[in-house]
Formats: sequence, C-alpha cells, structure tokens
Amino acid sequence: MTDEGRFPDGFLFGASVSAHQVEGNNTNSDWWWWEHLSSTPCYEPSGDACDFYHRFRDDIAMLAGFGLNTFRFGIEWARIEPAEGEFSLATLAHYRRILEACHEHGIVPIVTFHHFTLPRWLQEHGSFGYEGFPKLFERYCERAAVALGDLIAYACTLNEPQGLGSSGWLLGVNPPGHTDDRDGAQRAVDNLLEAHRLGAAAIRSRAGIPAGVTLALPDLQYEDGARPGSTSLELESRVSDWFLELARQDEFVGVQAYTRFRFGPEGPRSPGHDWSDTVRELEETDHTTQMGYEYYPQALGAAIRRAHRTCPGVPILVTENGIATAIDEKRIAYIDTALREVVACLADGIGVRGYLYWSLLDNFEWAFGYRPTFGLVAVERRTFTRHPRPSASWLGAVARSRMLSAVSQSA
Ligand code: BGC
Repeated sequence: MTDEGRFPDGFLFGASVSAHQVEGNNTNSDWWWWEHLSSTPCYEPSGDACDFYHRFRDDIAMLAGFGLNTFRFGIEWARIEPAEGEFSLATLAHYRRILEACHEHGIVPIVTFHHFTLPRWLQEHGSFGYEGFPKLFERYCERAAVALGDLIAYACTLNEPQGLGSSGWLLGVNPPGHTDDRDGAQRAVDNLLEAHRLGAAAIRSRAGIPAGVTLALPDLQYEDGARPGSTSLELESRVSDWFLELARQDEFVGVQAYTRFRFGPEGPRSPGHDWSDTVRELEETDHTTQMGYEYYPQALGAAIRRAHRTCPGVPILVTENGIATAIDEKRIAYIDTALREVVACLADGIGVRGYLYWSLLDNFEWAFGYRPTFGLVAVERRTFTRHPRPSASWLGAVARSRMLSAVSQSA
C-alpha cells in the first residue's frame, strides 16, 4: 500500500441532496407550478419525489452505515414561510428532527438554505428579480438560523446562484421562464449577490456557524484560436467570479463540478452545453453521461484550483460532484478519478475540507425528471424502496480508511 491517495484526519466524506429534489409534494413552490405547465421544458412533475420528508431517518442511518460521515440536505423556504411573514414552527421542528438524526449517527450536517426553489408568494412578487428579495432572504435565513443553527455544522446560503439569472431570464428553462431578458437577468444576479451577503451575515450573527455559497464551476477550456464569447455558460462563469469575490469574506466556499466544456474557433464544441432540449431521449455513451455531458471527472481539480486562486485561504468544501449513469462501475471510476484530483490539490497545499457526492439518492433532476440516475442509491418510483449500489459501500470504504489506493486496489 502506498501513501498515494491519503486524506487528512477529519476530512469529510458524504453525499448531498436538495429539498425539492427528494422531499416530495413541495406544492407551495415556484418549481411545482413550473413542472405542471405544459409549455415548459419539464419532462415530468416531481410528485412524491423520494418521500425523504418521511423517510429521512432511514436515509441518514443508511448513509452512516456506508461509512460516510457527512450529509448535505436542504431546508425548504416554501414550507418554512408558506405565506409572506408567516413562519411554520412545525416545519422548523421537522428540520430539527433531521438534524438530530444526523447527530445521533455521528453525521456532520451541512444545510442548504436555498436550492433553486422559491415560495409561490415570492414568485408572484417577481422572483429573484424582485427588489425586496434580498431582505426577504435575509429574514428567512435569520429565522432558520435561530431555530436550527445550534445543530448545523456548515450553512450554504444559495446553491449555484450563478445560473439562476441565465436559466430563468435568458434561456427560459427555469422559473419564471423568461427568454432573452437581459435586464431581468442582471437584476436577478444583482439581487442574488446581495442576498448571499445579507443571508450569510444573518446566519453568522444569529448562529455563529460557518456560512458560504456553493457554485458550479465547470471547466471551460479554450482551444487555440478560440475566443471567449457570451454563451450562457460563459456569462454564468463571469457571475461565478463575482460570487467568488464575495466568498473571500466567507468561512468556506462550496465547489461543484461535473464536466468540462470546450470551445473551438467556431464556438462551443462539447456535448451537453445546450439546455434547450431537456425532453430529448437521454442517451449515455462511452464518452458522455446520461445528462449529455462529456465524461470528464478531472473537471473537479480545475474547479477547486479556480476557487482557491480567487479565495486563497478560504476553506473549500466539494459540496457536489457526480455522474448520471446507468453503469455503477463507471460511477466508481468517476469518483475515484475526481478524488485523485482532490488529493493532488491537497498535496499542493489547498485547504479542501470535504467531498460530497451528488447524490445520495436517484432523485428529481429538475427539467429532466427522474430519468438521470446520479444516486449512490437507486429508488423505486412506486414504493420508494432504496437499493444501495456498490458505489455507496465503495465510497464508504474510502471514507473509513481515508485511503484511495487501498480501496481502489481491492475494488
Ligand atoms: C444542482 C443539482 C443537480 C445536479 C446534477 C447541480 O447543478 O445543484 O440540483 O441535480 O447539479 O445536475
């Protein structure tokens, strides 16, 4: 056994989910409305999702049983504040029970306060474009931090805010479904930046816990003769830079990466860069995942290094990294390569504190519906029965030994 692939003491290994994608029946949210409109690109509605709302105890016990020590899950604003200014104590108590279940199993809980969805009442005000959005987000963060903060290890304010302006105002693939509305997209981005600033400050001052933003940082690669342009991916990447600037003030930054996108002199040349056709048949090949992305686990290293360049010294958590595949051996190979990138970053002195795979469960993949299978665990759609895949115990064995090479040799 070599020393190659060793992780430091206390390194966090886990898996992530988000509220809307697993809880089920998030009927008071903008996404629920969006999924039920025939004019949207959604393949199917989320329905009962994975019924995580009722099955969280078993899921957390299962995650701990694999050998993982960290769980990232979301709290849902549309449930916590079902009408403007009305906070549900029962819902907050529900999320406390989830946090308590994590602690009972020795699991470090990482909580996402906002993962794409908004309460319907806020959508009616104008969604992220509404001038009152940052202050409303601050108040929600404050309430949730007071109620839950003593049990939370890390708080993620906004998940992947860099994409919310373009997907909702330029591409029309997310609510509110506008297209080519540049002013709207800019307003949304400005408000999201302010919302992160205010939300993180509220969480810090009310609960004294580390707060940060989680960003998708795909590896954008330009070939000779290619010039940066203004595709939505490139616009999002610029927005990520603004969030990374803000993250210098934070206690951590969440890094998320799935693939790379290449650009040639003639423009984008990677599969999967075009979001407009989510209802197409998903076809996985040797080189592409079910999402249509290029199989490229090395993207994680570039994402970590980019975050580190802008925010040197700010601890990094890999809050999402994963593959949608029907072939679990491919998932193991993908995670193995991605974790080797993490080890290389650690060897270069970059402060990566944890790695969370996306996702614990096969879940609702937004406009793509339930077709992509990202999970360490498969979920039967009618009975919600969980079927752990070999990748779950493989990642758990890496977590237990904190050694990559030992596990890879025996896998
Ligand atoms: C999002 C998740 C999503 C995952 C896989 C990330 O962009 O945070 O909600 O399911 O990627 O596509």
